[in-house]
Amino acid sequence: MDSVRVNSEKVRYTDVHIEADYDYQTTRVDIDHSGRYVATPQTTRYTFRTQRKVPKLGVMLVGWGGNNGTTVTAAVLANKLGLSWNTKDGERKANYYGSITHCATVNLGTGPNGEVFVPLRDMLPMVHANDIVFDGWDISGMNLADAMARAKVLDYSLQQMLRPHMEKLRPRPSVFFPDFVAANQEQRADNVLTGSKQELLNKIRQDINDFKKSSGVDKVIVLWTANTERFCDVRPGLNDTVENLLNSIKQDDPEISPSTLFAVASILERVTYINGSPQNTFVPGCVELAEKMKVYIAGDDFKSGQTKLKSVLVDFLVGAGIKPTSIVSYNHLGNNDGLNLSAPQTFRSKEISKSSVVDDMVESNSTLYGRDEKPDHCVVIKYVPYVGDSKRAMDEYTSEIMMGGHNTIVIHNTCEDSLLASPLILDLVILAELCERITYKTEGEKQFHGFNSVLSILSFLCKAPLVPAGTPIVNALFRQRACIENVLRACIGLAPVNHMLLEYKAETIAHNLQSVSIGCEETVDRQRSQVTGVKDGVLKKVADGIKKCTGNGISKEVLAVLHS
Ligand SMILES: NC(=O)c1ccc[n+]([C@@H]2O[C@H](COP(=O)([O-])OP(=O)(O)OC[C@H]3O[C@@H](n4cnc5c(N)ncnc54)[C@H](O)[C@@H]3O)[C@@H](O)[C@H]2O)c1
Repeated sequence: MDSVRVNSEKVRYTDVHIEADYDYQTTRVDIDHSGRYVATPQTTRYTFRTQRKVPKLGVMLVGWGGNNGTTVTAAVLANKLGLSWNTKDGERKANYYGSITHCATVNLGTGPNGEVFVPLRDMLPMVHANDIVFDGWDISGMNLADAMARAKVLDYSLQQMLRPHMEKLRPRPSVFFPDFVAANQEQRADNVLTGSKQELLNKIRQDINDFKKSSGVDKVIVLWTANTERFCDVRPGLNDTVENLLNSIKQDDPEISPSTLFAVASILERVTYINGSPQNTFVPGCVELAEKMKVYIAGDDFKSGQTKLKSVLVDFLVGAGIKPTSIVSYNHLGNNDGLNLSAPQTFRSKEISKSSVVDDMVESNSTLYGRDEKPDHCVVIKYVPYVGDSKRAMDEYTSEIMMGGHNTIVIHNTCEDSLLASPLILDLVILAELCERITYKTEGEKQFHGFNSVLSILSFLCKAPLVPAGTPIVNALFRQRACIENVLRACIGLAPVNHMLLEYKAETIAHNLQSVSIGCEETVDRQRSQVTGVKDGVLKKVADGIKKCTGNGISKEVLAVLHS
């Protein structure tokens, strides 16, 4: 049963689909001959069609035996089994905190008792995290129970409960090209495939098919949560087109990275591929292949801790008309990710991913920043084994305020890294799967079609969002969230949330009061208790006016007061 049902002639429910007609309103801006902006409102009619049947979803993680891989698998098992366990702080119960699909609510509209919020996952039929079936690859062959213990993320008593389930899970052998990661990663590489790049590609494709058949899932999504790789070269002849990329794989070119091989294999299997790390997996030939095959790709790099906060804080500062001039971010972490990032070439990938996160906000405000002007932005990452998965992120934001003043904000953020990243993995695959079931057409188009292969709707979950070529990159967190929320609303024919709450602004309150049958003072008292944000003086005037009411109607005096 649908948790939310829309009552509109523009929305049609069949056994198979939810179909909604939707007017998308935008503003086109031109510049006239005198340099003035000319804004023209535009409306485009869309019809969205969403398949209602939620499939059984299989997720294959590259890096399944790592901290994120084991944590997300364990969390889903613990939720599915309804586990609770004791800690020194008391009993804890399995949950999905940190997942927007499972733990965030959205404003559906207003009801008799004010605003109505529903879980985001109730807006459209979505996969429940408990129903996801996991599989995957890792260059370390440890079973998942031992790998979970190695990760040192979950409480010991919970690990003991999960051990019998987790020890049955063992990652498939993977592709390992040591040149792409730090030298220190070789020590765990005991589960490695051999062969030419073409043979490795074929083997990954075979694994995807094998998992699909043996697990009985309806569809598969592949997500990279393995080590950060160095950036690979991008150059003509190597990977700039589909043909050159596939040819370079055939030629065993050393610049073809493991992650690009996984992406190409997934795309050829028509399986959505998501990149949770910063490297440039999606070389131009790979993006072109996804577009040709109409397969979704998304990334890059989970937006979990420091960057998530940055994409809120800088948005707040710039949006408030304050000018950030220097942003300095230190991190230290002691997990295997930190060990791998201690090599300059992998650190560089992370640095690039983290560094452009404020660009869109800075560029949006030409009052504060001149052309090409940017705040100083420095990112440092250090490996400190003792802190394990509890990454410390320390940020200093210095801003110029009015009349030469300065404002400095210093933040210390202990991010339990994998517990922040795991719910993002769930949101990424659940929302990507939903996108596979959404098609749309605009007025005049005959055929329904999907979104662009580069699924930028998932930007909210990514540190360095991949977007279709030539389209805007949005990093500001609340704009990214509003995108997800409003696309879901569009699919059920609801207007975007605009935060205006006009119905609660003074004039509209008067309108609301007129529109109900007001016969006595008691009714006004009830209205008063339902209406928020109204000045007492206004209500007193209304109440005084109502006193003069006759019968069920409203006297001219009352109307005059309501309009005053
Ligand atoms: N945890 C976070 O908050 C967070 C945030 C953003 C991005 N990331 C990225 O997610 C990735 C995983 O993080 P983690 O903490 O789980 O790291 P991890 O080192 O614990 O796990 C990575 C796993 O990948 C395996 N691996 C390495 N190369 C492989 C290959 N070619 N094929 C298959 N497996 C391979 C390793 O053996 C390891 O088990 C890292 O790239 C990290 O930068 C993490």
